Amino acid sequence: MRYFIGNWKMFGVPKSIGILSKINSYYEKDKNRNKYRVIITPPYTLIESYSKYFNKKKILIGSQNCYQKEQFSSNTAAISPYMLKSVGAKYTLIGHSDNRKEGDSDMMLKDKVRYAIKKNLKVVFCIGENKTEKKNKKTLSVLKRQLTKVLEKKFNKNNIIVAYEPIWSIGTGKIPTAIELKKTTIYIKTVLKRIFKKNSPAVLYGGSVDGSNVEMFKDIREIDGFLIGGASKSSKKFIDIIKNYYR
Ligand code: 13P
Repeated sequence: MRYFIGNWKMFGVPKSIGILSKINSYYEKDKNRNKYRVIITPPYTLIESYSKYFNKKKILIGSQNCYQKEQFSSNTAAISPYMLKSVGAKYTLIGHSDNRKEGDSDMMLKDKVRYAIKKNLKVVFCIGENKTEKKNKKTLSVLKRQLTKVLEKKFNKNNIIVAYEPIWSIGTGKIPTAIELKKTTIYIKTVLKRIFKKNSPAVLYGGSVDGSNVEMFKDIREIDGFLIGGASKSSKKFIDIIKNYYR
């Protein structure tokens, strides 16, 4: 199974659902539709209405983050996995570099993953090195640390997807070379196999993915799909990624 996940970040109002309707129409008619899943993570404000609208359709709705407590607490503006689940979210991103930058520690991320899984949300756990770490050849050790500090064997592997998003690639148009990316993805899967003592969960790539570069990624069979930012805000650009991947 391949995954095409669109992360809208701080984008979208109720009428932006038109973008998803077009993606959904394409998906429902696509002869390759059984090979992949489309998930969109709009802002919190749209999760309930979009989940209701796509309830019987193919697109699944997720959240971009969740709070590190299970149900209710007295933290202003916080949203828990239970609350997300109650409005129809099926997935949640956790550990996106935007949120790590704002202070999400490994300990907080571990609690987020634990409670999200407990509430039956599927977790897309994001990892990735920054520009300096890459320059200093620290990529693999950074990724290993990010994975081993948070993920545990007792977490249900079937509810976890890992997204490798090098920070220097997000929104910059810069992407790793095919050789680098293959090597890094294989390494991530090796670490995950060690953590879970069996097969690795799916591993996605994210960072400046678009219709013109996705063909390079399709030769790297170890990559199970994509986490797409900018290009997910346009139905045409998002559909082009899927079309070109299966061409
Ligand atoms: P871009 O596709 O805009 O580089 O964003 C990637 C990302 O951060 C998705 O979570």
